[in-house]
Amino acid sequence: MLKIGMIGAGFVAGFHERALRSVRGVELAGVCAPQGAETLAECARENGLGNTRVFENTAALCAAVDVVCIFAPNYARLEIMRDIAKAVEGGVKIKGIICEKPLARNLQEADIMARMAKALGVPTAYFENQLHMPPVVEARRQLAAVEQSMGSVHLARSAEEHGGPHEPWFWDPTKQGGGVCCDMGCHSIAVGMYMLTPSGKPPNYLTPVSVTANMALLKWGKEPWISQLKKRGVDYAVTPAEDYSNVIIEFKDPETGIRSVAQATNSWMYDAPGLRLFMEAFGPGYSYTVNSLESPAGLFISDAAATAVADSELALEKAQATRGALVLQHNEPDLYGYIAEWQDAIPAFEQGKNALLDFEYGRLITMLVMAGYMAHEQKKVIDLTDSAVLQALETYVPLVQQGKGAEVLPGV
Ligand SMILES: NC(=O)c1ccc[n+]([C@@H]2O[C@H](COP(=O)([O-])OP(=O)(O)OC[C@H]3O[C@@H](n4cnc5c(N)ncnc54)[C@H](O)[C@@H]3O)[C@@H](O)[C@H]2O)c1
Repeated sequence: MLKIGMIGAGFVAGFHERALRSVRGVELAGVCAPQGAETLAECARENGLGNTRVFENTAALCAAVDVVCIFAPNYARLEIMRDIAKAVEGGVKIKGIICEKPLARNLQEADIMARMAKALGVPTAYFENQLHMPPVVEARRQLAAVEQSMGSVHLARSAEEHGGPHEPWFWDPTKQGGGVCCDMGCHSIAVGMYMLTPSGKPPNYLTPVSVTANMALLKWGKEPWISQLKKRGVDYAVTPAEDYSNVIIEFKDPETGIRSVAQATNSWMYDAPGLRLFMEAFGPGYSYTVNSLESPAGLFISDAAATAVADSELALEKAQATRGALVLQHNEPDLYGYIAEWQDAIPAFEQGKNALLDFEYGRLITMLVMAGYMAHEQKKVIDLTDSAVLQALETYVPLVQQGKGAEVLPGV
């Protein structure tokens, strides 16, 4: 039994606890977080995930587990990684480090994360669930023979949209790293690149060539939304972030020279039934589509019964309504790829290897996200074949992330 330890016990840790119920050979041995640790540990114990204990700090957790998971807010990544490094350098043996998306807020931070893990010699997993989504993986598997004879996908469209994040820190660009592009663009860029990647090639196979982007603050800078945010301690009049982002990346196949394009669209204004993950891939003579809001199941709750429903998220992540016709997804941890990412990482760690997606891959995605912000800020095509541009990206911190979003966001 591999002992898992989670740092952070909020929304995503709860999803992973649900996912782990379907993963063999693991025990959720420990949790450590300023808030929510006892509740999560109790839930895990009740669900038979082991004798889950609460630990006071990262050092104590590391000493008691085999795999450490960074499921805390983005601004806490480096501090947690340093604490893990101290524990390992002090003699603690761990078999893997997992970090939720995004790996970091910018490339400087991503570099530190990747370099520290490499120096420690501990295998890593960058948790980007969307590459593991069963509908995406299965569509690719079923089309592999068609792809073989016709050629790989040339256009990928991906989107993740909902009505806005659950915790105030996500809205604060200085803490989170930006607005929706940093938070969810990282997903859509990663899965878009994956949809274009020829079967059998690694996820970092394609060469990114150029990036264009368009971002704006369309909804949450206006009344009554801006005042609602202010009540939650977020002031978009002073430090706004983008709630809409469209990033277009051109790639080149390094063996054939063939070009392909990924369009990643994200927003925090999807006032619809709930979270939607949307993917569309077009190859020569074939295509596939994934829409997470299309479900074989649904619910109906009348006005008369609505007051009895305490939690609309029972049916769907980021659900926006508690009555009427509601979309029901019966197994979200499976649908979104959380179970599959664990099923990939655990055997890899057992063999002393990185997961399919490692911290270096997370660093690559951070670079593409940063290129998106740079393209929007500079209003030009970012040429990723230019070494001077790549060098500039290394130290680039988007104006939005610096708290100066008002300078670059139309609508503010
Ligand atoms: N894969 C996905 O689709 C997905 C979904 C949601 C969140 N995430 C990612 O997961 C991470 C956590 O997001 P969340 O929604 O669970 O946030 P959250 O705010 O719901 O929970 C954060 C947890 O971390 C704890 N925490 C805060 N500061 C800490 C610190 N310094 N050290 C240790 N723990 C600390 C909090 O007490 C809380 O338990 C973020 O990086 C986010 O981007 C990924």
